[in-house]
Amino acid sequence: MGVIMKPRRSVLACPGSNTKMIGKAKSLPVDEVFLDLEDAVAVSAKAQARANIVAALNDTDWGTQLRVVRVNDWSTAWTYTDVITVVEGGGAALDAILLPKVTDAGQVRALDLLLTQLEKSCGLEVGKIGIEPQLENALGLRNIDAIATASPRVQALVFGPADFMASINMRTLVVGEQPEGYDTGDAYHHILMTILLAARAHGLQAIDGPYLQIRDLDGFRRAAARTAALGFDGKWVLHPSQIDAANEIFSPRQSDYDRAELILEAYAFHTSAEGGSRGAAMLGSEMIDEASAKMAAVIAEQGRAAGMRRTTQFAPPE
Ligand code: GLV
Ligand code: MG
Repeated sequence: MGVIMKPRRSVLACPGSNTKMIGKAKSLPVDEVFLDLEDAVAVSAKAQARANIVAALNDTDWGTQLRVVRVNDWSTAWTYTDVITVVEGGGAALDAILLPKVTDAGQVRALDLLLTQLEKSCGLEVGKIGIEPQLENALGLRNIDAIATASPRVQALVFGPADFMASINMRTLVVGEQPEGYDTGDAYHHILMTILLAARAHGLQAIDGPYLQIRDLDGFRRAAARTAALGFDGKWVLHPSQIDAANEIFSPRQSDYDRAELILEAYAFHTSAEGGSRGAAMLGSEMIDEASAKMAAVIAEQGRAAGMRRTTQFAPPE
């Protein structure tokens, strides 16, 4: 990760129409809550959901979660009212807008311009509100680099598997599982890697979308572990039962975190005059150099951001 950002290991989806769930979300140990105005809210409930979200943003009993609102996509009639209502009513407490079904950079720029005007008119710092573009269709994936760089507000690229599968006619209805008949690998690999590479190329976070079988915690763990292994930063959770698993799976393992801090200290020592100004040195039975320190820096940064504490100390050789 180029920029140090607050972690987004667990991202709770919370329908803006469900005031009970919004009330509960405020005290859940997730890194981000997104209040939804899009697909989890019926058309007839959207106006009330906007009001619920404004009221919730203004509540003072939130924890440390990032507060994000998913607006409707630009092909609808609702996006501008969503953004204006939410920012005018609760912009001071809003960290980012999640923009679904993004097809091109122009859609991100349009949101950026609207946010800039709103921030000015509401007396908010310009650029304060971030953007999380959600990749949910073939065109968006084709334009991903332009989308990722369309505005300095972009913080994370988010996968929307259900809409994506529909957009490419993938022959399955089970999000996260392989389509029957495709038996030569992971059908999602190309999409996931494209999102991950764009995120890494542009210093953004990469967030995996939902796992819809909410009673199947093993299935959730398997799906989360796959994208965590690739390098994704977090995943949506739809139910409180998925939160601990997401936080654990998207944090470094304690042993990896300890090792990473050790490598950084050992590398700093060996490259110093006191340590002999060496570019490559041994740490136990492993040779470490600049590339090892870079890998270690990523894990150490993730562990620190997740509040981990190290359990080992580096001792310079006698
Ligand atoms: C989420 O928005 C999805 O389409 O999977
Ligand atoms: Mg979607």
